[in-house]
Amino acid sequence: MPKLSGKNVLVTGASSGIGEAIAIRFAQEGANVAINYYSGADRAEEVRRKAEKAGTQAKGSKHITVKGDVSREPDVKDMFDRVLKEFGTLDVLINNSGVQKPAASHEVEMADFDRVIGINLRGAFMCSREAIRHFLSRGASGVIVNNSSVHEIIPKPKYVPYSISKGGMENLTKSLALEYADRGIRVNAVGPGAIVTPINNAWINDPKARAEVQSHIPMGRPGEADEIAGVFAFLASDESSYITGQTIFACGGLTLYPEFRVAWSSGE
Ligand code: NAI
Repeated sequence: MPKLSGKNVLVTGASSGIGEAIAIRFAQEGANVAINYYSGADRAEEVRRKAEKAGTQAKGSKHITVKGDVSREPDVKDMFDRVLKEFGTLDVLINNSGVQKPAASHEVEMADFDRVIGINLRGAFMCSREAIRHFLSRGASGVIVNNSSVHEIIPKPKYVPYSISKGGMENLTKSLALEYADRGIRVNAVGPGAIVTPINNAWINDPKARAEVQSHIPMGRPGEADEIAGVFAFLASDESSYITGQTIFACGGLTLYPEFRVAWSSGE
């Protein structure tokens, strides 16, 4: 039996990268998937078709695309209206949308700061708020899974707006989990390490830069989007029914203090 049979799911930022992999994996697991995209309707439609193909085992499943900027309240409200009109109910929200913009902290433009926080953190909160309102109005259980990062706990100089957005996501996950635990709503997060997606185009196709990235990862390789999607499927499913308020790091060991692979602190 597929893990997410008949579940209605909204995935934000699902027209590329990890969001795309989640949409396809969830369709395989029997879910009906709403694929949110910010720009590029054609790409979103391509993902919808892939989801349709992947989900053919689940009879009667339905996948839709829904445009919307998660940092804009009217867009978020419209997106939820549309999803609820199409699906009737929502069972799972995946807050996946995220952006980053590198700059030395003393040179950060506040418009860039606001954009990163607005999409990564404020957007995740607004979508969660809408989802929770819906779950409560139905008197039903619901699940939220956030796409965080290893930078939820590891500082990232020159990416401070990104880094603090993910640090904030840890508390968003925990606070919402605690606030709604007694009403059947579970809130968790996945913390990916370095994953092969468009956000990392700066090193993916540059052999030297890629080798440098790999040298820092204890498992010796970046992750694939599908390896992350599997963790989302677990956290969205009843297999994780007693887990809430947690971040599962899927990072090839990046959160294990790789610098301590050698016992330098003991002078060896
Ligand atoms: P990506 O660039 O392919 O995906 C980001 C998605 O967010 C895109 O589909 C984009 O259209 C969407 N988006 C951007 N602005 C938006 C807006 N205003 N409203 C709605 N959607 C918007 O890159 P990737 O890697 O798939 O990123 C997905 C999530 O995974 C992000 O939250 C990112 O921080 C997180 N992540 C990625 C890692 C990696 O190494 N690829 C590592 C850790 C976390």
